[in-house]
Amino acid sequence: KICVLAYSGGLDTSCCLKLLEEKYGYKVVTLCVDVGQPEEEIVESEEKAKRYGVYKHYTIDAKEEFVKEYIFRAIKANAMYEGYPLSTALARPLIALKLVQLAEELGAEAVAHGCTGKGNDQFRFESIVRAMAPHLRIIAPIRDLNLTRKEEIEYAKKHGIDIPSESKKYSIDENLWGRSIEGGPLEDPSFEPPEEIFTWTRNPKECTEEEYIEIEFEKGVPVGINGKKMDPVDLVRECNRIGGRNGIGRIDIMEDRILGLKSRENYECPGAVMLITAHKALEQLVLSREELKFKDIVDATYGDLIYRGLWHEPLREALDAFIEKTQERVCGKVTLKLYGGSIRVIGRESPYALYNKDLVSFEEKDMDQREIVGMVKYYGLQAILYHSVKRRFQ
Ligand code: ARG
Ligand code: SIN
Repeated sequence: KICVLAYSGGLDTSCCLKLLEEKYGYKVVTLCVDVGQPEEEIVESEEKAKRYGVYKHYTIDAKEEFVKEYIFRAIKANAMYEGYPLSTALARPLIALKLVQLAEELGAEAVAHGCTGKGNDQFRFESIVRAMAPHLRIIAPIRDLNLTRKEEIEYAKKHGIDIPSESKKYSIDENLWGRSIEGGPLEDPSFEPPEEIFTWTRNPKECTEEEYIEIEFEKGVPVGINGKKMDPVDLVRECNRIGGRNGIGRIDIMEDRILGLKSRENYECPGAVMLITAHKALEQLVLSREELKFKDIVDATYGDLIYRGLWHEPLREALDAFIEKTQERVCGKVTLKLYGGSIRVIGRESPYALYNKDLVSFEEKDMDQREIVGMVKYYGLQAILYHSVKRRFQ
């Protein structure tokens, strides 16, 4: 009997590894999906899995797929949830799919994850696994056994699992689209996030020199930076570096989890914040007022689906079709000015711009002002009627 466990090498998933052997009687295969978390974490997860006596360990590089199939869609949809660019949420369906694929290849009976019963990730993993491979048993040992962090640490001590050092008081999740930090002292919403929680971004108060970055888009997707074409993974990484050194993308919010629990979340998403800001600026230049207004609703719904673990919802595919159509014209360049942790859009250009300088300019005669008179006269007709009725009854 084989169970494939989504494995990071952290405390939760390491306890799961042992529990699955000991309490559930499985041969455990661990899978680490590389979505751009730090290299050391990937190496460590393999090293630990072996040291803890796993049956077999796999690492799958899914970085390119993550950027092309997930991050690029999120950019086209300006995907956000309560001000959070969805970095953790966006990677979950991909990790779940890889888990299912490996389980099928190995003829496994079950898959497992290390989520607690309080968070969002349990929903995101399980809904996809159930949709893609309903025959697989899904096991969540930490949730099943109702374990607290303290109990996990005791269990770890007994089973030769490394105990996280004192410095690891936060729960951290990292991928190409951002870094999530929660737990520990941050659970007090009045506690100011200390500098030590940030590793991607410089303290904005030290970013006293401004930097310009020009981002080029083709059909809604970023393809180059500062005049240089780049491949998708490198481009996202470069945006994280540039944004990070300018203190961009620190986010501190009270977030409404799927369950309804409110939680205090911190994020560093320099690349995501920059790319979405630039993408929106380009949409403002090329899309019509009607498209923009309607797309705002679509974008909000899209972000919601990602957050709630409904990537495989048919609605997501339908929204993709609408978004794809609008993005045909989202081509061009946007220049951002970064300073002290803030972003200003200072330039935008596109061959598809609906902006027409000669029409809008007060210096030109392309449009005969006198022809507008009739339109202005009856503009707001219903409001004019309403006030005349009101005056009659006063
Ligand atoms: N609250 C965020 C989300 O649901 C991030 C969760 C991050 N996970 C973690 N282990 N720190 O997407
Ligand atoms: C967890 O609860 O296991 C991780 C955090 C989350 O799912 O939101």
